[in-house]
Amino acid sequence: MAKKEEKKKWGVSTIALHAGYSPVSKVDMRLFRSFVPPLIQSAIYPLDDVDHYTRIVQGLEPGYDYGRNSNPTVDVLQKRLAALEGGERAVVTPSGMHAVFALTHYLAKVGDEIVTTHRIFGEAYTLFFQRAERMGITVRLVKNPGDLEEWERNITPKTRFFWVETPSNPTLFITDITGVAEIAHAHNIPLIVDNTLVTPCLQQPMALGADIVVLSLTKFLIGNGTIVGGAVIGSDELIRNINSAIAYFGAISSPFNAWLALMSLETLPLRMARHSSNAEKIAAYLAQHPKVSRVNYPSVPDYPQRELAKRQMPNGFGGLLSFVVDGGKEGAIKVTNALKLITIVPSFGTSRTIITHPATHTHCNMTPEEREAVGIYDGLLRLSVGLEDPEDIIADLDQALDRL
Ligand SMILES: Cc1ncc(COP(=O)(O)O)c(C=O)c1O
Repeated sequence: MAKKEEKKKWGVSTIALHAGYSPVSKVDMRLFRSFVPPLIQSAIYPLDDVDHYTRIVQGLEPGYDYGRNSNPTVDVLQKRLAALEGGERAVVTPSGMHAVFALTHYLAKVGDEIVTTHRIFGEAYTLFFQRAERMGITVRLVKNPGDLEEWERNITPKTRFFWVETPSNPTLFITDITGVAEIAHAHNIPLIVDNTLVTPCLQQPMALGADIVVLSLTKFLIGNGTIVGGAVIGSDELIRNINSAIAYFGAISSPFNAWLALMSLETLPLRMARHSSNAEKIAAYLAQHPKVSRVNYPSVPDYPQRELAKRQMPNGFGGLLSFVVDGGKEGAIKVTNALKLITIVPSFGTSRTIITHPATHTHCNMTPEEREAVGIYDGLLRLSVGLEDPEDIIADLDQALDRL
């Protein structure tokens, strides 16, 4: 393992390549002598002697006992994600959704309350606003997450956490992480931030005041649509506790998926820079198109939260944007079905450009009134801008918008 002082100096690109396992680390080389992080595809681990198990589970000695509890390849990924987010420890989960569930289950119990908004991805909306009741948890809604006093008004003695997704999927609403964190901390409440949309390459929620970060690895972090995965990053104590709870649920990440994730992470900073510059060009094209009434991306001139977005994401706004076409749902469907290069996929964050109609796909569980209130209009399309030549993406959008 590299020395601590050395690690602190590393930039995000170096962390993405070296944290958790490094071919210059004497310890890693003694164990594996592999340039690439090793894929340990084993569910069980031999012990030196009978006491070895106790020494491992009590943390007296590093080691592995059973694949449901830990795995060396998954461990490298956990260390790398923790380093990228600037957190003490990370736990990798089988999906981003499981990260949301595990955290909710760990932090809140029957009778407790949580505070969040409707500016979150579809399944988190369903878990919080439709299913949490079955867990005995009450969810309080902040209608305008930009109004810091509304967060404060929703606090009760039973509040267990604040949940923020910023930028939000699919309308790119930006919540002031530092502002919400100050309110949360004044009441001893942890702030959780879902950093999936822009990744730790572009936004560091913990440096801005968040206590816990949630990630879906399925999106930009992996970037090629090969695996489903998630992670929670937080304090050493929190993650150790969640990790042991996860061992009892049996929801573990596969070593092969973790290894694929490590391979993808190596190029994350380069990819996020290209996603951001491509998205900026596409947003500028869409903003001047006569058939497009609105573009949600912080670089467009009339974007209302531009200054806050720049403060929280000084190096780019990522690859996701959304826009509203003329003709409502019918218009959105016409444009989508006319695309030739861009693929229709109910996800985002891939190297290829993909498009989704949130009202009928990802956010179909919300009522039409709830969608309207957060800007998920019937004519809204979510575009995950890929790594292609931007001119080719624009040409495809142009010929499709011509159908309107
Ligand atoms: C912002 C955000 N966070 C988390 C998730 C959940 O991730 P997964 O699909 O890996 O379960 C999603 C999925 O759409 C998402 O959009």
